[in-house]
Amino acid sequence: MKLIIASNNKGKIAEFSQMLSPLGYEVLSQKDAGISLDVDETGTTFEENAALKAEAVAKLAKDCAVLADDSGLEIDALGGEPGVYSARYGGEEYKTPEDRNNLVLKKLEGVPEQLRTARFVAVLCFVSADGKKISVRGECEGRIAFEPVGDAGFGYDPIFVYGDRTFGQHLQILKNCVSHRARALAKLTDILKKEKL
Ligand code: IMP
Repeated sequence: MKLIIASNNKGKIAEFSQMLSPLGYEVLSQKDAGISLDVDETGTTFEENAALKAEAVAKLAKDCAVLADDSGLEIDALGGEPGVYSARYGGEEYKTPEDRNNLVLKKLEGVPEQLRTARFVAVLCFVSADGKKISVRGECEGRIAFEPVGDAGFGYDPIFVYGDRTFGQHLQILKNCVSHRARALAKLTDILKKEKL
């Protein structure tokens, strides 16, 4: 099955491709599908934003299923921030993922290890070629490091500790087994199989 990933985020597209290609899906980025679109994420929940992105791209995708991911990092000591604002945390001033990682670390200065609990959340919204919509959520619990370590993955991976090291240090193949995105995708592929979509 051909599947367009409704995203311009290279990190997400690479992970979907790594996880879905072995299952026989042909993963296309928006660019591959000739769809140039940057959807405004005006929702206040991951569910709303994933649906906004999936529906906007599905309107332009001819006879092809679409998968959108809205994801982010929830940090307990920051009341759930950056949450749905993870991609633009801190506003214009914080341009790069490194800037945003440093902002998080600054806000957590003085917070001890046991209170640095956090989770990555991913909500996937799938729209089939004939317009059927499915939404699923995956979460991955961890904690925030004291400094960025490792250069694997993308975004907040260097400061997210899973087990004894950051996602930036883990092999990508491990992240793809346990991540928020992997867990949501496992739920989705189960549903797609059961519903023969
Ligand atoms: P959005 O879903 O386009 O709003 O962006 C999600 C943002 O959350 C990304 O730009 C990253 O900053 C962050 N994020 C989501 N998933 C991951 C992940 O697997 N690793 C690191 N950062 C992530």
